[in-house]
Amino acid sequence: MSATSWNVWSASTWMLLSCLASVAIVVIPTASASMPFDTKPEFIKTCRFDQPNFVDCSTESVQGLFDKLVTGIEGLEHVGTIDPMKISKIRILQGDGPVSVNASLSKVVVTGFASTKVVRNVVSNKDFSWETHIRLPKMRLEGNYHMQGRILVIPLNGHGKCWFEPSGMDIIMRTTTDLYQKNGHVFYNVTATKVDYTISGLRLHMGNLFEGVKVLEDSTNQYLNDNWRPVSEALKPIIAKTIEDILLAIMQNIFNQIPADYFVADLPRA
Ligand SMILES: *[C@@H]1O[C@H](CO)[C@@H](O)[C@H](O)[C@H]1NC(C)=O
Ligand SMILES: *[C@@H]1O[C@H](CO)[C@@H](O)[C@H](O)[C@H]1NC(C)=O
Repeated sequence: MSATSWNVWSASTWMLLSCLASVAIVVIPTASASMPFDTKPEFIKTCRFDQPNFVDCSTESVQGLFDKLVTGIEGLEHVGTIDPMKISKIRILQGDGPVSVNASLSKVVVTGFASTKVVRNVVSNKDFSWETHIRLPKMRLEGNYHMQGRILVIPLNGHGKCWFEPSGMDIIMRTTTDLYQKNGHVFYNVTATKVDYTISGLRLHMGNLFEGVKVLEDSTNQYLNDNWRPVSEALKPIIAKTIEDILLAIMQNIFNQIPADYFVADLPRA
C-alpha cells in the first residue's frame, strides 16, 4: 500500500481511513450456489506444515498470490487490481509530535506493486499468525491533496496535485488470524496486521502549496526532497498505519473468500 509519505504518521490521533476502510471492508455474504472458489484455483500453491521446506513453499505460494492480484483474480469480489491500485480517499489527522497535520488525499493511484518480491513468508503452526517480508523496488503514489499542518519545522498549507516515490522499500508485516470453518473449508479470519518498513530513497512533489506562491512552493519541495530521510522518519508512524489499514482491508476480503486450506492443507479443523 502504500507508501506515502506525507500522510502518514504517528499514531495516536488518528482518525481514519475510515472512508477507505468502509469501502473496502465489506463482509461478503456467501451465496453457496455460485461460490467461485469451490475448487482450488490453479495459481495457488498448496503447502503443508509437515513438509520439510514449508517456509520456502509458503513464500512461493504468497508470491503467486501477489502476482495474480496484480491483474486481478477472477471471481474475487471487492478486491480490484493492485497495480494500479486506486483508493478513493485517505484522511490523516495527527495532532502531536514532529508532524502535525490535517490532510486528505483523494483519487489516489498507487503503482509499483507488480514488482513486489515476497522474500519470506512464515506461518505459525501454533497461532496461525503470519510474518511476511516483502520488497518493493519502486512505488509511486499520486493524487490530489488537501493539507494544513507542519512537518518538522515546515508549515505546509495548500491543495493540489502531489506525488510520492519511495524506493527500495523493505516491509515486514505481522498478521494475526483466527481460523474458522465455512462450507467445509477452513478460513482465516484476519484480525490485525502491524507493518514496519524501511526505504532507501524518497522523491516527492506537492503542487500548489501556499495557494500558489511559487517561490515558497519550489523551495519547500526542494527542502523536503533534500531532507527526505528525516521527513520520512517523521512520517513513518502515519505511513505505517495507512499501509496497515489498506492491507488489512484487502487481506480480510481475500481470505474471507478463498479458503485457507488451499494455502496450507494441514491447518487444523476444530
Ligand atoms: C480538518 O480539515 C477539515 C477540512 O478542511 C475540517 O473540516 C476539519 O474541521 C479539520 N479538523 C481539525 C481537527 O482541524
Ligand atoms: C472475525 O474476528 C472478528 C474480531 O475478532 C469477529 O468480530 C468476527 O466475528 C470474526 N468473524 C468470523 C467469521 O469468525
